[in-house]
Amino acid sequence: MTSTRTSIHGQWSSRWVFILAATGSAVGLGNIWRFPYLTGENGGGAFVLVYLFCVVMMGIPIMMAEILLGRRGRKNPINTMHTLAIEEGLSPNWRLLGWLGVIAGFIILSYYSVIAGWTIAFIFKTGMGDFVGSNADQTTAIFSELISNPKILLFWHTFFMFLTIYIVSRGVKSGLEQAVKFLMPALFILLLVMVGYAMSTERFLDGLKYLFVPDFGVLANKNLFSDVFLPALGQAFFSLSIGMGAIMIYGSYLSKDSSITFNSFVIALADTGVAILAGIAIFPIVFTYGLEPSGGPGLIFVSLPIAFGQMPLGTFFGCLFFILLMFAAWTSSISLLEPAVTWMVENRKMTRYRAAYIAGFIAWLLGLLTVLSFNHWAFKFSFAGKTYENGLFDIFDVLTANIMLPLGGVLIAIFTSWLMSRSSTIDELGLSDSIAYKIWRFIIRYVAPLGVVVIFFNAIGLFS
Ligand code: PFF
Repeated sequence: MTSTRTSIHGQWSSRWVFILAATGSAVGLGNIWRFPYLTGENGGGAFVLVYLFCVVMMGIPIMMAEILLGRRGRKNPINTMHTLAIEEGLSPNWRLLGWLGVIAGFIILSYYSVIAGWTIAFIFKTGMGDFVGSNADQTTAIFSELISNPKILLFWHTFFMFLTIYIVSRGVKSGLEQAVKFLMPALFILLLVMVGYAMSTERFLDGLKYLFVPDFGVLANKNLFSDVFLPALGQAFFSLSIGMGAIMIYGSYLSKDSSITFNSFVIALADTGVAILAGIAIFPIVFTYGLEPSGGPGLIFVSLPIAFGQMPLGTFFGCLFFILLMFAAWTSSISLLEPAVTWMVENRKMTRYRAAYIAGFIAWLLGLLTVLSFNHWAFKFSFAGKTYENGLFDIFDVLTANIMLPLGGVLIAIFTSWLMSRSSTIDELGLSDSIAYKIWRFIIRYVAPLGVVVIFFNAIGLFS
């Protein structure tokens, strides 16, 4: 059955704008900050391999399903799930899946904004030449000093949250297009420059090997499920922005004649490409300058500045790099706030402006807990066999990326493949009843949900 609904929030002006916006959401701190540090913490090449597997077997099919739901429902994720569930003769409680996403979005945004704040602080540090000629100890000291100062973290967190609220309050479609069209390619080119620098370092090949050749020796004293599979799965969801309604809401602005399959592949390819490039740029520097790959969330902030301090025009490139990273984080953070804001506009009849400020304020408040996680309130804890150092920040991160997003993803997979009628999904994907459709349906029915469930329950030790 063909759906003719339209969104009250308007539509993207073309398919490419959707691709740009969704890529803007996907490419962000997740690729350049989170991917390298998780790779370093969780076994290098083996982690990357499992990550790629999760992107292909779970990420892309679930992204297709999520865009499909968004475009068919044409509302915020809560109302979309509610409407589609009723249309398919299912329980309206499916709207809770929308809620799960909106809450995950708040939690991610709360800490995302703090890390984006680190990026802004680094624009100034690199721009003022703080890293010229510095070694690993010096960059580590500069980074430690930053995160041990809650006042500065609070300042930049507040600043970044304002930027996010500002764009969302004006409607994401107006500002986003220009930002993504020029800044994303610029970031990509700058990453290539960094890869060029990495090639000139002594340990370039070691860095490549670390990323692409799984070292099973490293895995000997690790638990494969909790140390490699679950973080890789969580990273795939986090990086692709799936499982929480962000891509769903962007899908709700997509015109009917645009191919969901093609779009999903392009977005996933761009996203994965940026993450891999970031890895290639960072690990040779990490090894050449004697840093620990498992250094945690500070990894890019202590490794890349060494390179900026050494390379020709390093101050310029360094400053530009962190500016572009801030923009990449910005185009992601607005997609984290958008689902909650559209809900408030649709269901609470608020103006977009008011909704953006209220929702942004709640996320900002929650972010204070992350600000303190790196200094006054830092504590260690263990989950699924892994130890974490940074208290509430890590709790928020693990809770969202490793639990809420995969859970949301599985429910999206079950809804689209087991509960929605076949004709609705065929109509929406526009693949007719072809081989491509059958492959998608098989993966989304069996492989994706089972994969997530097996990884999750093994990681928390339920099957061992
Ligand atoms: N994908 C973003 C990144 O990699 O930085 C983060 C993100 C945005 C996660 C939107 C989830 C989301 F819904």
